[in-house]
Parts: sequence; C-alpha cells; structure tokens
Amino acid sequence: MIAIRDMSKWFGEFQVLKDITLSIPEGERLVICGPSGSGKSTLIRCMNGLERHQAGQIEIAGTPISEDGKGLAKIRKSTGMVFQQFNLYPHLSILENCVLAPMWVHKIARKQAEATALEYLERVNIAAQANKYPHQLSGGQQQRAAIARTLCIGPKIMLFDEPTSALDPEMIKEVLDVMVDLAAEQITMICVTHEMGFARRVADRVVFMDRGEIVEAAAPDAFFDDPQSPRSKAFLAKVFSH
Ligand SMILES: Nc1ncnc2c1ncn2[C@@H]1O[C@H](COP(=O)(O)OP(=O)(O)O)[C@@H](O)[C@H]1O
Ligand SMILES: [Mg+2]
Repeated sequence: MIAIRDMSKWFGEFQVLKDITLSIPEGERLVICGPSGSGKSTLIRCMNGLERHQAGQIEIAGTPISEDGKGLAKIRKSTGMVFQQFNLYPHLSILENCVLAPMWVHKIARKQAEATALEYLERVNIAAQANKYPHQLSGGQQQRAAIARTLCIGPKIMLFDEPTSALDPEMIKEVLDVMVDLAAEQITMICVTHEMGFARRVADRVVFMDRGEIVEAAAPDAFFDDPQSPRSKAFLAKVFSH
C-alpha cells in the first residue's frame, strides 16, 4: 500500500529524514515511535504529501507522490489523517465537520453524507453531540469526532500523529478504544504513538526512529521484549520508567 525507497528530506540545511526505506502492506497496523524530534511527524506527513521529500520515492497504492498535483489529489482522497490537536473546524458543528470533505471533495449528496457521518459518529459513541460545536466537547470527544470525520471519506489509509498526546489521562482510553476497534478493519493504519500498551495489542509491526533514521523495525513482542539497538533500549527504558 505504501512503498518508501531511499527517501530523504531536508528543512533548509537540516536533514530531518535520512534514507528511509519502508514497505507497508495493505491492512498493516504500524506503530512508529521514537524520541521527540526524531522525524516521526515529518515521515507520516510525507506519506500524504503534507510535506515534500527531496530524494527517493514514495508510492501510495501505486501512485507516486511527485510534484504532479494530480497524483497528490488522488492520494489525499483515500488517506485520512488524525492530528494531536484534533484540527476540527471550530465554526462548524461536528456533523458539518464530518460532511464537508465527502460533499465537496468526494461529491457525495448531503443526505447520504449526513447518513454516513451519523453512522460513524454512532460508532465512536458521540452521535448525541452531532449538532454541537467543537469547543462544547471534551478533548476526548473532539478527537473521536476527528476520527469519525476521517472515516467519512472511506480512507484506505489512516495516519495518526500522536492522537492521544494532548488528552487528559482519563480520556486517553476512550480514544484508544475507538482505535482498537478500527484496527479490526482492513484499513492500513500508521500510528505515531507512545502508547506502548496499544502498540503491543494492536500493531503488526513497530518502527523505532531516532535522529531521522529508522533504527529498528520488528514485531511488537520482539521489539518490546528484546530490542536490538542500544538506542531502542535507551528509549524503551525511558518510556517505561514513567
Ligand atoms: N517546518 C519545519 N521547519 C524546520 N524544521 C522542522 C520543521 N518541522 C519539523 N522540523 C524539525 O525536524 C525535526 C523532526 O521534527 P518532527 O518530524 O516533528 O519530529 P517528531 O514528530 O519525531 O517529534 C525536529 O528537529 C524539528 O524541529
Ligand atoms: Mg511529532
């Protein structure tokens, strides 16, 4: 589903991603972890063209991400992204947030778009909040709304960038529960997270990044029980000391 080969990216002089090679088969649930500043967000933002890479190739379902705007539009249509800060439109109700892209990008009629939106809002347990505005919801509810909004476009790929990091502890579980539920589907899921319990339970593979490189990629049990690189060991020791 996603093929990245020898991909590098710079911000000015600073090389943020170094020779990344990573293949993600359809339906895989991949967790990316690593210290802050290691390039995790930049890597997944490159996967839907929110950031452009300068060397190497990225292909999404056979479509290369290049300067060609057409390929990018196609990729964005089938790729959903969930951000740490929810990024709901504040001036639109939850329902309107959910029907916007289906109606304007995917050209779905309002009635159908609303029916689909309500279905997904039901699924993440906030159908009762459909007519409220984002600021009237808790952080956990907003993030679940953001996930529902993403599902409304029928994505083949879901990218999550630390979806629970901005949440109070008591809300983390309600969002993770929704993500665990989602993981049962055939959507390809790439999730930057430090929720190691989630990673162990749901991930097919864990990728550990440090300083712009993929240092280790392994099945969760292997990664957590027997990390190979000194850098992964140091990282895991820190994460589990909290
Ligand atoms: N738009 C940008 N311009 C310049 N530097 C950036 C930009 N975005 C991120 N960086 C830098 O790139 C590095 C990796 O950032 P990021 O991908 O956000 O890491 P992570 O998500 O792992 O914390 C950091 O050093 C960060 O400061
Ligand atoms: Mg980040």
